[in-house]
Amino acid sequence: MTTARIEAEHLYKVFGRRPDQAVERLEQGADRDELRAEGSTAAVIDASFAVAPGEIFVVMGLSGSGKSTLLRTLNGLLTPTAGRVRFDGQDLTALGDRELREVRANKISMVFQHFALFPHRSVRDNAAYGLAVQGVPRAERERRADEALALCGLAGWEDFWPDELSGGMQQRVGLARALATDADLLLMDESFSALDPLIRRDMQDQLLELQKTLHKTIVFITHDLNEAMRLGDRIAVMRDGRIVQTGTAEDILLRPADDYVASFIQDVDRSRVLTASAVMDTEVRGDEADCGCETAAPGTPFTELCALSARLSHPVAVVDAGRTVVGVVPESRLVGFLGDEQGDPIACDHPRDERKVTARA
Ligand SMILES: Nc1ncnc2c1ncn2[C@@H]1O[C@H](COP(=O)(O)OP(=O)(O)OP(=O)(O)O)[C@@H](O)[C@H]1O
Ligand SMILES: [Mg+2]
Repeated sequence: MTTARIEAEHLYKVFGRRPDQAVERLEQGADRDELRAEGSTAAVIDASFAVAPGEIFVVMGLSGSGKSTLLRTLNGLLTPTAGRVRFDGQDLTALGDRELREVRANKISMVFQHFALFPHRSVRDNAAYGLAVQGVPRAERERRADEALALCGLAGWEDFWPDELSGGMQQRVGLARALATDADLLLMDESFSALDPLIRRDMQDQLLELQKTLHKTIVFITHDLNEAMRLGDRIAVMRDGRIVQTGTAEDILLRPADDYVASFIQDVDRSRVLTASAVMDTEVRGDEADCGCETAAPGTPFTELCALSARLSHPVAVVDAGRTVVGVVPESRLVGFLGDEQGDPIACDHPRDERKVTARA
């Protein structure tokens, strides 16, 4: 019994000489550089994770860390050197070529970075491409392609050529193509990376908006941590072929697994990621609840929490769906969480409300 839609178990992909031997060496603790010296490239090393239906799982890492290779083993475009991939519990690594093509045509869609549109086909035919591969009759595939294009904000553009569209619009045709097939699993490899920052943000918003109704299962590759944190329900950070941390944006921001991850998160805007549940003090006293003032939910974003805190004369109470107070957020905690490190409190002889700030002589 499994609840994961797609699952990787101790997955390895080694290119070059004697891949099986290389896996053994990696299991014994060899690293990528040692193997490179021996003539093989360990692109993916011992990757394990499970993606739940409806989840957006982001794989983040620098160029060459193994993201695209990992993604290609998930839909069988690459055969793993060792380990397993399960799709709805079915072992993809055990399937023959024909069965694998079937799964790829019907159940899994891929959206690439560089649009990958056919220049000599209309926008509609491009969006219908996956359906044509599935053998869906023309009338039906055009209807479904038009629906998918409309979902992606491209109604009215069906009869244009790809090169008549902007980069952002072309990328949306790629997304429409993936959505038109009804495949539940979307694999997106740096799908928004070639876009201007504003258009990129737009596409991120659009994906999140679509996801509210479509509930696809998405594995999204990016080298941009801000994008990862905006989109991902969970994020896996890859370094030199290995997944070094998997967690929510808050987990990664507040508890980076090592110095490498910590160096990544330096530039992240914390106020966009943190929510009340991460910031609150969970030691709640009985008298901190029922004053009748406005409260926050555990998922309230940091910026809203700040606004609420500014309007209240006491700490914000965080209440769950059952109206139980699960934490409180004093103003000082809000300020503290914006910094990189919390640090120890500094003892001061002057009680806070009597304190006067005076210039030093
Ligand atoms: N077909 C191949 N043959 C040999 N080596 C390969 C092959 N594909 C990838 N590699 C190597 O595997 C490593 C990981 O490559 P991969 O493309 O998965 O990285 P990536 O994280 O997607 O990088 P980028 O962000 O640049 O797209 C790299 O060292 C690359 O050179
Ligand atoms: Mg790549």
